[in-house]
Amino acid sequence: MIAALLGAPGVGKGTQAQLAAERNAWTHLSTGDLLREEVARGSELGKRADAIMRSGELVPDAVMVEIVAARLNALPEGETLLLDGFPRSLPQARALDQLCAGRPVGVALYFTAPEAVLTERLLARGRADDSREVIARRLAVYRETTEPLVAYYRERGLIREILADRAIEEIQKDLLRTLREVRADPSSVS
Ligand code: AP5
Ligand code: MG
Repeated sequence: MIAALLGAPGVGKGTQAQLAAERNAWTHLSTGDLLREEVARGSELGKRADAIMRSGELVPDAVMVEIVAARLNALPEGETLLLDGFPRSLPQARALDQLCAGRPVGVALYFTAPEAVLTERLLARGRADDSREVIARRLAVYRETTEPLVAYYRERGLIREILADRAIEEIQKDLLRTLREVRADPSSVS
């Protein structure tokens, strides 16, 4: 099954996906992590992505779709995939539907927490794009470009909300319970 993790910067998508993937031997695909690896390697893609990421804007859809397509093609049949940070725009969501027509997105886990909480978490982390100014831009880009995906997946009956202003282990339990429920009864998503 493919589970897309949706939610604002700092809401804990990466933390939760990594934990669940490690404990259950699932695949965690974070487009942000992939881009940061390219930056660290100094590849052409990394050089282009670095400035965009530091400004809080999004890397062009076509670039991201190509990266994710290659990973989806290599995914073993029946594998559980936690997609973290993709899709992030309507064109990406439509492209994903085309790419995984044979095994569609089974659930969109929509992580929510107040913006003040997100900003505090990110400032405490201090990644290259975690300055106050860039965090504000990432949150604005999220609201403008990514949040419309909530309606996109809701129309398709695929949204499950995860309250993410709680302890990490509580959220993790909720995530695992939600995935179990969706597997047992795919019509339970709303
Ligand atoms: P990306 O790496 O995806 O960053 P993001 O969306 O801004 O989100 P974060 O990774 O900052 O937050 P998260 O939800 O994963 O939270 P985390 O678990 O880390 O993208 C970075 C950039 O890459 C983008 O701005 C864009 O330029 C580019 N990009 C990536 N994908 C793209 C795409 N598809 N299209 C175009 N461009 C793309 O947690 C945050 C902090 O909070 C951590 O320190 C963590 O320890 C802490 N924390 C987590 N959970 C809790 C909790 N429950 N309680 C207390 N603290 C917690
Ligand atoms: Mg992340």
